[in-house]
Amino acid sequence: MQPELRSKLPHVGTTIFTEISQLALDCQAINLGQGFPDFDGPDLLRERLCHYVQQGFNQYAPLAGIPKLREQIASKVKRLYGYNACPDTEVTVVPGATEAIYCAITACVGSGDEVIVFDPAYDCYEPTVALCGGKTIHIPLQPPKFGIDWQRVKDAVSPRTRMIILNSPHNPTGALLSAEDMQTLREVVKDTNILLLSDEVYEHLVYDGQQHESLLRYPDLMQRAFVVSSFGKTYHVTGWKTGYCVAPSLLTTELRKVHQYVTFVGITPIQWALADFMEACPQHCDELPAFYQKKRDIFLDAMASSRFDMIPTPGTYFQLAEYSAISDKTDREMVQWLTREQGVAAIPISVFYQQAPDMRYVRFCFAKSEATLVEAAKLLCQL
Ligand SMILES: Cc1ncc(COP(=O)(O)O)c(C=O)c1O
Repeated sequence: MQPELRSKLPHVGTTIFTEISQLALDCQAINLGQGFPDFDGPDLLRERLCHYVQQGFNQYAPLAGIPKLREQIASKVKRLYGYNACPDTEVTVVPGATEAIYCAITACVGSGDEVIVFDPAYDCYEPTVALCGGKTIHIPLQPPKFGIDWQRVKDAVSPRTRMIILNSPHNPTGALLSAEDMQTLREVVKDTNILLLSDEVYEHLVYDGQQHESLLRYPDLMQRAFVVSSFGKTYHVTGWKTGYCVAPSLLTTELRKVHQYVTFVGITPIQWALADFMEACPQHCDELPAFYQKKRDIFLDAMASSRFDMIPTPGTYFQLAEYSAISDKTDREMVQWLTREQGVAAIPISVFYQQAPDMRYVRFCFAKSEATLVEAAKLLCQL
């Protein structure tokens, strides 16, 4: 007899990123959809990985990550944000930021707990909360600036609120949290048991001289926070699926309890390669804003004559484009049409909302070579 299967995630299908990347491949469209670079990570980093694989660094790493990499992470967050993280008790290396997010939520959210997210929200948050028996409370960000309406947050907070998930720089809108946002956040969580999960995977992709307001700059907020980052984004190696979490020791202890039964450890030679590269090239992070700002501006210049309205992008490697002058299709239909008929893949925004406002935006990823960006823009300018 066929056993009855009761799905724990009945409403979850294949992610939009997988769907669009497959469609782009099938249609041979330029893929400005999924967020990954079409260029490689630094030569030295890749050379170090080959070195460690060849030299036999191929067995399990320690649960929290190799000490040298945790020390490098601690010294980076000290240098950039002034936060003193103990490498032994507050830094955990994980196979991808996604795993850290899963572990942080699973460690802290239980049945009936509420977790506040801001829509459009990155797609892994809600399913993880659901697997824990929690309830996701969605607060929409309003176009075109996609800032947080803090009154709505205050109204949503209740004794059931266990966690607020922040994401700055924000995927898919590129919006940044400001120092004023942090001040208001302080007021909101003061005298509560609310935990914070700060998804900062685009921490180094901040433009026009602006500052990334990492939670790591705020020691009082850090008492209740998990801060998550991704080496994939920072070193152009998304396929290495390696990231880290910085959190105070009490929270780190709980996160590691889950981590040890999800993956147990990250991949050993990758950790050694990253540790060597961080030690040899600490300036890589400092050079990233100029590197990606140039790409953003090349794309914007190439799109100048298009009928898309390009929304200012202060962070991430995503560019939102409003297309109501071109079509009144829904964003899902628009993306299908762009990919199938016009040869450029993009990502719709409404899929990241619980209830999408009436709007016409698509997201383009500009982590691509100059030639790719110019070629895609040429096609888009014909519309
Ligand atoms: C906002 C956000 N969080 C987390 C992740 C996942 O990062 P990783 O590939 O390191 O798991 C991504 C990847 O696209 C992302 O955009």
